[in-house]
Amino acid sequence: MDMFCVEGGHVLHGTVRINGSKNASLPILAAALAIEGEVTLEQVPQLQDVATMRQLLQSIGAVVELLDDGNIRVDARHVRSSVAPYELVRQMRASVCVLGPLLARFGTARVSLPGGCNIGHRPIDLHLRGLAALGADIRLEAGYIVAECSRLRGADLDLCGPHGPTVTGTCNVIIAASLAQGRSIIRSAAKEPEVQDFARFLNAAGARISGAGTSIVEIEGVDQLHDVRHTVIPDRIEAATLAIAAAITYGDVIIRNAPTTHMTCVLNALNLIGIPIDATHDTLHIRASSMQRPARLTAEPYPGLPTDCQAQFMALLSTIAGESQITDTVFPERFMHAAELVRMGADIRIQSNSAVIHGVARLSAASVMASDLRASAALVLAALAAEGHTEIRRVYHLDRGYHAFEQKLNQLGAKIQRTNDGSQNIVPRPHSGPISLSISRQA
Ligand code: UD1
Repeated sequence: MDMFCVEGGHVLHGTVRINGSKNASLPILAAALAIEGEVTLEQVPQLQDVATMRQLLQSIGAVVELLDDGNIRVDARHVRSSVAPYELVRQMRASVCVLGPLLARFGTARVSLPGGCNIGHRPIDLHLRGLAALGADIRLEAGYIVAECSRLRGADLDLCGPHGPTVTGTCNVIIAASLAQGRSIIRSAAKEPEVQDFARFLNAAGARISGAGTSIVEIEGVDQLHDVRHTVIPDRIEAATLAIAAAITYGDVIIRNAPTTHMTCVLNALNLIGIPIDATHDTLHIRASSMQRPARLTAEPYPGLPTDCQAQFMALLSTIAGESQITDTVFPERFMHAAELVRMGADIRIQSNSAVIHGVARLSAASVMASDLRASAALVLAALAAEGHTEIRRVYHLDRGYHAFEQKLNQLGAKIQRTNDGSQNIVPRPHSGPISLSISRQA
């Protein structure tokens, strides 16, 4: 497995460009399965998760091409299968995004349950509740969700869960409702920019969706979706991560192709910490100084601070004198990175869904282990600020969501070396125990 060796203490300077959004690309690629035409996507990032989604689409029978100009073309016209196998789904939870498209197009879908996850309990009951409200019969068979319907019917449904709305669940129900008969209203929809991009993509393919980006999305079903060309939005989480990298090293960094209008809460949090940022429509200029203040932050559904930035902010606050606090209301158990940061000298206590952080004068290098995608990014940021050489193992988590991350940081003056630690990624055996599933059909 690949690991990073990071020499800390280098100030970042220079300009860096943001890639297309991972979280926008994945449901859009999955939705291509429901489109009886050619789908051409621009600005899809070259990431492991995108490669996994491409593999999944191919295994279902779609033709997926990586074009010379970096764009991706998907042609699902000749797809006949509607099965998403465990071997691929277990590698990435976003694979569940194929459920809505397959069901809507073929009237049947058999998608493996995604299984466990390092950032806490991640059920998919809201996805299933939404699809059931549109008329699908859903059952569980040998670890697979089996969904069936003759033709989906429009419905008025609510997707609110115990931790707020669901992003990929909203996408699954939007695509299903787009090909349902009649009109649907989705209440408590996720408002994330990735959901807005998903709706823009589908509307360009002939869907009739309005209200995406608000909590009420209205959809007039259509019979078929057609050829479409779409440019995916830039990745707000990558932009935020690099902004925090600049802040933690007291750097001076210009970030181009940043979706600044999607980053208001992140920029407000950085301002609160005392990091001045000049933002124009697609550029951020971070000029960080050492005059940084502790803060109390809460990760919430959009337009709140993204849970996907919680770990990176924790790394930054670990280096700022005084008491800070971060609460995560979206994934209340998403604190695996805290223990690794503590190994680097951070002072962090977890209390329920919050972390209380007492900033230390300097983090120190250690051997640490990445546990999930954003946790890996947080460890890299901490290592940039730490004294000495930090070894970060299992950076395959990072490669799932950041393209050429260490190269971008190295171009800004970081010293990160990727090597192989000689060990192998052990693939877990499929879960074979009993799983219970309850779905309530709404009127
Ligand atoms: C997406 C993002 C992920 C981000 C998360 C929250 C993608 C590919 N991934 O994940 O990076 O961290 O949004 O912004 O876009 N929940 C339920 N029942 C469900 C579904 C979700 O209770 O059926 C809960 C989850 O456990 C969590 C909360 O709702 O507490 C939000 O999860 P959700 O928005 O669904 O996350 P994902 O869409 O999987």
